[in-house]
Amino acid sequence: MEDLQDFEKLNINWFPGHMRKALRGVGDQIKRVDVVLELRDARLPVTSQNPDLQNLLINKPSLILFNKSDLADPNQIKKWESKLKNESTKPFLFVDVKKRKGLSQIIPNSKKLMQTRWENLRQRGIRPPVLRLMVIGIPNVGKSSLINALARRGATQTGPKPGVTRHQEWIVLGQNAELLDTPGILWPKIQNTIDGLNLTLIGGIRDEIVGVEKLANYLIQLGKKRFSQKLLARYKIDGCEAQSSQEILHQIANNRGFFRTGGNVDIQRVSEMLLHDFREGLCGPINLDLL
Ligand code: G4P
Repeated sequence: MEDLQDFEKLNINWFPGHMRKALRGVGDQIKRVDVVLELRDARLPVTSQNPDLQNLLINKPSLILFNKSDLADPNQIKKWESKLKNESTKPFLFVDVKKRKGLSQIIPNSKKLMQTRWENLRQRGIRPPVLRLMVIGIPNVGKSSLINALARRGATQTGPKPGVTRHQEWIVLGQNAELLDTPGILWPKIQNTIDGLNLTLIGGIRDEIVGVEKLANYLIQLGKKRFSQKLLARYKIDGCEAQSSQEILHQIANNRGFFRTGGNVDIQRVSEMLLHDFREGLCGPINLDLL
């Protein structure tokens, strides 16, 4: 695999049947709330949404939260902010749930979305109800983390155990607002192979579907084009232009002393390390949907 275009030949299997079922479930949850908090990944502002969700949100106020902005390129964030403002589509915030950045703006911004409806109620002498919110998004965008952060509780109290049906509860947030304690989980929608690979890099699709080694090869191809200096410096590679991504993987494994019994380099281990480093932001802030 020596060019990003070669990855177009990869076939990432996907299951639209599951996606439709998940969307129906989410549709039922949405009916219970006033405002939907749609979580996306700041590194992948467009691809980390599920486009079918927008049909369910036609008459529902929603706020887009681009999370993990600590891992995104600040210049790209600025560009996306001004593009989205110019297009004046939906209200949005860039947040970093881990460091609680931007979280205090969520309830006030959500209340703004209800202003007209609530004003109508007031004029009819009716007191506006408690603001009801829910979190929605594809896997790994930080839904549970956000619910825990807004509820100001530890991670241990997240969602139900697999296979255990649980009644959904409202978490009282203060400021006359409540949050559904279970997030709406959407399946990512893969429009093309590069989207599929990017979604896998951010953890929205399980690594096994693509394969860890292929994914690491893709990451190195991206790195050669976009963050070669960081690759060279962090992994002490002697120049990456002339080398294939597989050769680079071998070199990094050698440098790190990743060998299997018998002396062959451990490509699986070095691939996992690279993916881990990318996901922890150790290769620097990197955007995948570029402007
Ligand atoms: P999900 O419910 O949408 O599936 O996502 P979840 O909250 O489980 O978060 C997925 C991973 O993303 C977690 O890391 C979480 O800590 C991390 N995360 C959430 N928000 C942010 C953020 O703003 N910035 C960064 N850098 N990471 C964030 P993990 O390694 O799976 O778990 P943990 O070891 O951190 O608990």
